[in-house]
Amino acid sequence: MTFWAGLVCLASVVAAAQNPGYQPDTSWRASEVATARQNPLASRPEAAAGGRKLFAKNCAECHGKNGSGMEKKHSANFHLPVVQEQSDGTLFWKITNGNANRGMPSFSKLPELQRWQLVLYIRQLREPE
Ligand code: HEC
Repeated sequence: MTFWAGLVCLASVVAAAQNPGYQPDTSWRASEVATARQNPLASRPEAAAGGRKLFAKNCAECHGKNGSGMEKKHSANFHLPVVQEQSDGTLFWKITNGNANRGMPSFSKLPELQRWQLVLYIRQLREPE
């Protein structure tokens, strides 16, 4: 009995911790210059490990431990192509500026390289084809 109750509870937690229908806010747009910026860590994949730690500390509370977002918080699901098809520069700009009225804080207080590490890590969350 308690086994089944536990299973049902676990299933609802798993269901809550993802946002399969996430759609980016089309009015939240980086400039062309910001969009075109390249990740200075692009040739250093090992830097993603630090990004993973930063993510767990600063982002997982809203985006979920595995980055699939949370429906209740309308937070972005990084597994989806709608997010992954955006440029590194755009993701960096969004992390830097946030979208306060939709619940995404600004992380301009984190050093630039840490924000690029986060972008690198987000790329690892891409859903396998
Ligand atoms: C307080 C909750 C919260 C925290 C903490 C948070 N986010 Fe977000 N994030 C959101 C929400 C909500 C959105 C969706 C905003 C929208 O609808 O425009 C979002 C959107 C994003 C997007 C844009 C996806 C897209 O293209 O639409 C990126 C990138 C992002 N977050 C990265 C991060 C990173 C990296 C961190 C940690 C450094 C972080 N977020 C921490 C709530 C949060």
